[in-house]
Amino acid sequence: MTPTVRTRVAIVGAGPAGLLLSHLLDAAGIPSVVIDQRSRDEIESTIRAGILEQGTVELLDTLGDASRVRTVGHRHDGIELRFAGEGHRIDFPSLVGRSVWLYPQHEVLKDLIAARLAAGQDLRFGVTAENVVDAETDRPRVIARDAEGQPFEIEAEFVVGSDGSRSVARAAVTGSSTGGYFREYPFAWFGILCEAPPSADELIYSNSPDGFALISQRSATVQRMYFQCDPGTDTAAYSEAQLWDELQKRVPGTTLKEGPIFQRDVLRFRSFVAHELLRGRVALVGDAAHTVPPTGAKGMNLAVADVRLLADALRALLLDGDARPLETYPERALRRIWKAQHFSWWMTSLLHVAPDATDFDRRRQLGELRGVVESRHGQAYLAEAYCGWPLTSG
Ligand code: DHB
Repeated sequence: MTPTVRTRVAIVGAGPAGLLLSHLLDAAGIPSVVIDQRSRDEIESTIRAGILEQGTVELLDTLGDASRVRTVGHRHDGIELRFAGEGHRIDFPSLVGRSVWLYPQHEVLKDLIAARLAAGQDLRFGVTAENVVDAETDRPRVIARDAEGQPFEIEAEFVVGSDGSRSVARAAVTGSSTGGYFREYPFAWFGILCEAPPSADELIYSNSPDGFALISQRSATVQRMYFQCDPGTDTAAYSEAQLWDELQKRVPGTTLKEGPIFQRDVLRFRSFVAHELLRGRVALVGDAAHTVPPTGAKGMNLAVADVRLLADALRALLLDGDARPLETYPERALRRIWKAQHFSWWMTSLLHVAPDATDFDRRRQLGELRGVVESRHGQAYLAEAYCGWPLTSG
């Protein structure tokens, strides 16, 4: 007999979505088991994006002192859009009365893991989900292997797939591991982390004839920067001096503060939305449900918005026996998901230079950029989406 663990909600994936969901469920008195095939150390050290919407920060505030966003993170009240040799500041508070916080995703994960373990959460690392079955019964199960490779099952009243873009749970919902709307892009980002002071007070999103660059930050002593590259680029293909040349030529007007580069990665660009987010008693959240290209930093914020909706729906289902909020979860989540898909696609196409761009395309793009920065309405659209639509708006 395969050993079986019983709980109310089984959560596959201990990323921001799965961990935050376990926190919100616990706050409502609903126990859960969270599993992840990665080790705690791997989860806490994988470098991801760094921008949190105001609504994400407010939801993390419910962790109390365990959330260090407001003490260690930094509020940013604007970004700079740079093109044709000029910088244009988008001032968030005056446009939309909101801001964002620079606080790396792996720091959010450290906070969430510490808070969940302190609260006695059943959180298991090194555990691999192999399959999710019986979605259309009231006892769905996760078929898994523990850290020693021994098979076991988790039987629950509900299963949530928060297991990222290579989701195992997705097949139980969509009928295939890939079923969804999909788009690829003919470029990627070359990302670096370096030891240096910030080169500017705020993030710079720069469109240049050589391609896009983003000058982001991590702390007073560590900086994160990206430049547009071919998706097939090998991280070892550039010397440090060449990386600085590539970055510097894309941000004319600013002299980048250089320092030792201690990490390099290539980020693929993909847009994906699963055909279904719910089947019976299995739901998808975060990257298991959708992927956005990184421009505009919507990925983790979108996961948090899904979780906010699903937590409410599961409270209604499991505490009050009311299935209606769950039935409308996909429709309500998808409204925001497609808005964020559009915004991420738009920021990407606004700022990157496609490999096959003609002179017409290039001039049209500069016209579009001017249309944004020279219009209060254009700036406000960008600011509103970047800072995040209110979490309650569906
Ligand atoms: C970062 C990443 C993004 O995609 C973005 O739009 C802004 C910042 C970052 O990693 O710092």
